[in-house]
Amino acid sequence: MSSEDDCPADRFVISRKQPDEILDEMVQVYREAYANYPQYAENSYQSIVNYFYSLLKVRPEGFLVVSQNKQIIAFAIEGFYQLNGERIGEIMEVVVSPRAKGKGTGKKILNYLMNILSKYGCEKVYLEVGRKNKIAFNLYEKLGFKSFRDDGKWIHMVKEDAENKTTHELPGELLPQQKE
Ligand SMILES: CC(C)(COP(=O)(O)OP(=O)(O)OC[C@H]1O[C@@H](n2cnc3c(N)ncnc32)[C@H](O)[C@@H]1OP(=O)(O)O)[C@@H](O)C(=O)NCCC(=O)NCCS
Repeated sequence: MSSEDDCPADRFVISRKQPDEILDEMVQVYREAYANYPQYAENSYQSIVNYFYSLLKVRPEGFLVVSQNKQIIAFAIEGFYQLNGERIGEIMEVVVSPRAKGKGTGKKILNYLMNILSKYGCEKVYLEVGRKNKIAFNLYEKLGFKSFRDDGKWIHMVKEDAENKTTHELPGELLPQQKE
């Protein structure tokens, strides 16, 4: 099992973490990532922290954090709920640091989340993306999400089969860290 200590410097490690262990670093990554899209983000330190903890209430297992050289380069959070007997998944946040963007990190972490949600039994996964956030929109479309509503600010998207069959095997460098 890979861990941050034995992970080669050019590899990633994905692990579940509670934000209070790494709060300042996460706030910094979030702020840098959303610098071009303040209209879709929380902007003050306190509102970002409150936002993280509100997500954690929905999904207490913590954030999925991607580290490289022991520094956070990305994080994401998924959730799921029961509706009319069906388990519905949700991508609640995906953030990649500008230091790591454009290198496939977003795609890898999303594939990883989709596989987790598929294993939880979610056949549909929903998310919302800012309508001017073309980069994120492209990423989601590439992974098979389809728009079904535009409310003026957000585009609502769904993927009907959570499992991304083309990348079902998790990439070797994205081994989940053992729970501490
Ligand atoms: C959106 C985000 C997560 C993408 O992460 P990333 O690691 O840079 O993305 P990847 O390198 O995996 O690229 C995946 C796809 O995104 C799209 N994409 C990435 N960079 C792009 C760019 N500069 N212009 C247009 N599309 C782009 C492409 O479709 C790309 O697929 P391709 O490489 O096969 O062409 C990242 O830019 C980010 O953190 N943005 C700010 C936070 C945010 O918007 N989160 C989503 C909230 S809904």
